Amino acid sequence: MKNKNKTVWSARFNNATSKIFEKIGASIDIDKRLYKEDILGSIVHTQMLIKQKIISKERGIKIINGLKKIRNEIKKNKFKFNKKYEDIHLNIEKRLFSIIGDNAGYLHIARSRNDQVITDFKLWIKKASKETIKNLNDLIKSFLKKSESNIQTIMPGFTHLKNAQPISYAHYLLAYVEMFKRDKKRFTNNINYIDECPLGVGALSGTSYKIDRNFTSKKLGFKKPTDNSIDTVSDRDFVLDFLSSASICAMHISRFAEELIIWNSDIFKLITLDDRMLTGSSIMPQKKNPDPAELIRGRAGKNFGSLQAMLTTMKGLPLSYYKDMQEDKELVFNSYDTLLQSIIISNELIKSLKPNKKRMLDLSNEGYTTATDFADYLVQNNDLSFREAYKISAKLINYAEEKKKKLNQLNFNEVKKIKNDLNKNVMKVFDVKNSVNLKTSLGGTSTKNIKKMISKLKKEFK
Ligand code: ARG
Repeated sequence: MKNKNKTVWSARFNNATSKIFEKIGASIDIDKRLYKEDILGSIVHTQMLIKQKIISKERGIKIINGLKKIRNEIKKNKFKFNKKYEDIHLNIEKRLFSIIGDNAGYLHIARSRNDQVITDFKLWIKKASKETIKNLNDLIKSFLKKSESNIQTIMPGFTHLKNAQPISYAHYLLAYVEMFKRDKKRFTNNINYIDECPLGVGALSGTSYKIDRNFTSKKLGFKKPTDNSIDTVSDRDFVLDFLSSASICAMHISRFAEELIIWNSDIFKLITLDDRMLTGSSIMPQKKNPDPAELIRGRAGKNFGSLQAMLTTMKGLPLSYYKDMQEDKELVFNSYDTLLQSIIISNELIKSLKPNKKRMLDLSNEGYTTATDFADYLVQNNDLSFREAYKISAKLINYAEEKKKKLNQLNFNEVKKIKNDLNKNVMKVFDVKNSVNLKTSLGGTSTKNIKKMISKLKKEFK
């Protein structure tokens, strides 16, 4: 084997790596996505080596210029990635040798791929978390816009998918805003947890060189260096945090997608979606199917799968570094790509969605949704306990059911049959709009509450 083709660690090896192992051992097709972070980390590491007089300035500058040249080559698609050199770190180092010769051999002083890879990966996950947060902000804004135009849109709120109580459609949409806000917080918290720089812990035990980890940490935008070298190279909590936050966010989006699918069905007919968000059937000419929503729902499984795979990978690993961990990149990249697309498509979906206001209102009168309001009226006006009032309300429902009438179709005489000392103003409790507006308790669905919430949220998401 000519030296030119040898991997950097070949000195003690008599045979080349088996081809079949090379196939799964090489991660370059995946981790080349870390090239910017890898080169940045190497440049800062070199600057530190110069500052600490571990290498000469002249040599350091050659290394840095070589690295910048490589960055340019990769950016312009002129870099030839080679599986033989396993991963992004060794591909870059190998190329550095061909550009600046033996000076390249000084770059890896006081560093190991073990600290290098997590430095790269932490930087990348920070960037990805920020991008996710940005897209969640856009999604929240679209939900806010839709809720603003639907404050007076009344629909049945469901529990167990049975009509429960009337709500404002805006209030329902704002529920998702709360979920997405928590998702954002999770990604923001992760950025804080991630904020300790691994660079300089070496393979696992630290290094005998007089390095300055505070310098590299600061230059790379971390709050501080990590405290324990063994933990540093063993730790993939930051990967799990990302995957878990992505999974929870994907789960929220999937619930939203599921509701769109149900509400768009010919049975519910609560919403319509723009043609851009529908597809046709190859056999049934009448069909318009909500494929994008279905795909979002289906793809949440990929996010959960990545989390499950990573947890399983980690659970049996003794300290510290093992090659098992190399699989983490693919899981995170897949999960991120999937989630980002799901967020963007959800944004398109919410924009393209039209509530069928008449159907929503009609349906909110189905299923005796104001039965609780009637019971509450009796407690508040007729001095009854809630349990007594509940029984009277149940009697009224039985009567309405028997007469095949909705509660708002009953007349005062019929209601009086159930309880004879009622005031005529009781009849307003069967009006769903009135029901909504009575829910003035903090966080309830009254118009007043919703307006307040929307204006507060609009200030938060300008
Ligand atoms: N590509 C490797 C990974 O992502 C880099 C670390 C390699 N370290 C080692 N000791 N083989 O895990």
